[in-house]
Amino acid sequence: MRDIAAIEREVIEVDLFVRALQRAYDYDFGQYAPASLQRRIRQLAVQLECPSISALTARALHEPELLPRLLEGLTVPVSEMFRDPAVFRALREQVLPVLASYPHINIWQAGCARGEEAYSLAILLEEAGLYERSRIYATDLSADALRRAEEGIYSMQEAQQWSRNYQASGGTHSLADYYRARYGLLKLDQRLRRNITFAQHNLVSDKVFCEAHLVMCRNVLIYFSNPLQNRCLGLFRDSLVRGGFLCLGLRESIDYASNAAHFVALDPRLRLYRLTGLPTATGLAR
Ligand SMILES: C[S@@+](CC[C@H](N)C(=O)[O-])C[C@H]1O[C@@H](n2cnc3c(N)ncnc32)[C@H](O)[C@@H]1O
Repeated sequence: MRDIAAIEREVIEVDLFVRALQRAYDYDFGQYAPASLQRRIRQLAVQLECPSISALTARALHEPELLPRLLEGLTVPVSEMFRDPAVFRALREQVLPVLASYPHINIWQAGCARGEEAYSLAILLEEAGLYERSRIYATDLSADALRRAEEGIYSMQEAQQWSRNYQASGGTHSLADYYRARYGLLKLDQRLRRNITFAQHNLVSDKVFCEAHLVMCRNVLIYFSNPLQNRCLGLFRDSLVRGGFLCLGLRESIDYASNAAHFVALDPRLRLYRLTGLPTATGLAR
């Protein structure tokens, strides 16, 4: 077991690492949930063979080319197509029929990682006959993840799981209709890309940037502290049209957040919410 001094030292080292990233590169991780951030920084130090977090800080400062690697380790750009299929089924059955009443549909997908969710949404909209009048703004902090998202190329090893997800989400075709397989890689049909805009956006510091009918931000808030989660909910509220939909990750609870008072739960189990005109008296309806 580590002694108290070692634990305190590591807290200081983490703080200095976070400050170094902010001052040198303007990436602010100061409001991320501390325990999981500390774990990821520790893992990075091990992976980059640094004997301590202080040594990692020195490398971060002196080797700017390490930045993409550091961001990847800190931001967890992991996703799947049709992840949590029940959510995509609810989008098909409960959300898209309402969105169909708008002449133009804007979706903000925040924290898009390598694009898996954005392309899943594109397929959903295509199958509902709504894609021609839709635009998906898929944003992420990581320029590297966005580059990968634009390519739409993934390992074929994912295909089986993604196909199962697609079927479980209510897909009526075969997922293979939407990609070509070659040399162990899966390349998504470039036509799916036509109404997706991939753009860099930092939920810590950037502002609202579109008027959306659906905001999807899944498995991102879980990495943030409560005040930062509340800031994000404020951004989503300001972005959504009245009656617009918000979809969060299955493990993301927002009940305590003051900005949650503007949302009512459509399906609390699936973390699917709707923006009301005014804050509800009791906060988030369960
Ligand atoms: C675990 S992935 C979630 C991907 C996808 N939404 C899903 O649920 O499968 C978290 C994503 O959030 C992004 N992210 C982390 N901090 C962010 C921030 N401050 N602003 C925007 N995106 C951020 C990461 O780069 C990463 O791609």
